[in-house]
Amino acid sequence: MIRHAHQVAVTADEPAATPADGTFVEEHIAPAPRVSVQAFCETVETAAAVQSAGDDRRLVKAHVKIQMGGSAAAVEAYRSAPTPNVIIIEAGHRAEEILHGLDQLAQVCDSGTRVIVVGSVNDVTLYRELTRRGVSDYLIAPISTLDVVRSICGLFSAPDAKPVGRIIAVVGAKGGVGASTIAHNVAWAIGRDLSLDSVVTDLDLAFGTAGLDYNQDPPQGIADAVFSPDRIDTAFVDRLLSKCTDHLSLLAAPATLDRVYDFGAEAFDSILDSLRGSIPCVVLDVPHQWAGWTKRLLVSADDILVVASPDLANLRNAKNMVDLLRASRPNDHRPYYCLNQVGVPKRPEITPADFAKALEDQPLAVIPFDPQLFGTAANNGQMIAEVSANHKTAEMFRQLAQVLTGRTEAKRARGGLLTPLLAKLMKRSS
Ligand SMILES: Nc1ncnc2c1ncn2[C@@H]1O[C@H](COP(=O)(O)OP(=O)(O)O)[C@@H](O)[C@H]1O
Ligand SMILES: [Mg+2]
Repeated sequence: MIRHAHQVAVTADEPAATPADGTFVEEHIAPAPRVSVQAFCETVETAAAVQSAGDDRRLVKAHVKIQMGGSAAAVEAYRSAPTPNVIIIEAGHRAEEILHGLDQLAQVCDSGTRVIVVGSVNDVTLYRELTRRGVSDYLIAPISTLDVVRSICGLFSAPDAKPVGRIIAVVGAKGGVGASTIAHNVAWAIGRDLSLDSVVTDLDLAFGTAGLDYNQDPPQGIADAVFSPDRIDTAFVDRLLSKCTDHLSLLAAPATLDRVYDFGAEAFDSILDSLRGSIPCVVLDVPHQWAGWTKRLLVSADDILVVASPDLANLRNAKNMVDLLRASRPNDHRPYYCLNQVGVPKRPEITPADFAKALEDQPLAVIPFDPQLFGTAANNGQMIAEVSANHKTAEMFRQLAQVLTGRTEAKRARGGLLTPLLAKLMKRSS
């Protein structure tokens, strides 16, 4: 959407609410969700406007980072790093320059990232070219604090705006296969390595371990939401979240037995709608059950990861789950699966190749059985990467995080365990 800048005449170094002419311009701007925003500026004036926008009350939840160097610096940065939810690019004084910078950026930009361009050209042909390239907004320099606030917030509040959040459901093909452990480690990697805000929702209300795994004991969590559906709104849900790291929060399970947890199929709808509207990445730790509500959560997720350990019952269950979910989601990417606890000494196991044949798909990862590593992490309330940052299992969680958040562009030339598979996945989805 192309909008003209300067609806409100304030300059970068004046507070937003006190325009130069002394009048107060009433304008409702809905606050932005917890998105990551990175700006690549060319001029100090633009940098100052973005900086003070980042301090505006409507962007308190957003993480705003500013660098200089314009589109060239952005292209350089994103060659090796994942892109944030929003990129602001200040891109020159000539239309060709602006478009050239954007075309370079397009090659390193993950799908789902929204781009706001700041330029000093006011020209309708340029607007058309920008729109054709999928640019979300164009601001004409010099820009004010409120221009930036309005532009960022507008990306998420317009009636036709796509919801910011992506829901990733992780479920085991059997109990005890490590589905929760994987969900927690992947969510942690999404926050830490991709700098995307994520929330882990522990749906195993009676026995969930997310609190233990993150070493948290919050007084409230998912139960407060599911048992008071009428109170759910963003502010209410915000109060139920407990912060684990800079980018990761937890909606914890009570893990108490004083009541029973029988839910209707739609019990989690409003809480998930609320989370989807305000958090870029929601990881559902779905217990191994087949109930109306678990099926509904899986069918409605953006992406699904089925975790299996390599035995016959897991193979059968994983195949049944994948088949059913594929049939119920004909227009979506098929559910991913991974193998876990592979290589238990003396245990006869079904090979990844046999799984691949039965499920007609390669596993996203094959995670070795490592009781020392996983036991240490579990008993200390730590993530695998905190116990051993360079362990290949920690690297697998980082790669799972990339695939599950859709950050699978070919730009990732770093190499690694999943690289050939990533290439294959991309071919399939294009
Ligand atoms: N790759 C692994 N190697 C060794 N132990 C593991 C591995 N993955 C998970 N575990 C352990 O298995 C147990 C069950 O894991 P959990 O995540 O609770 O399973 P689920 O959620 O599928 O029931 C935990 O004690 C966990 O530490
Ligand atoms: Mg579990």
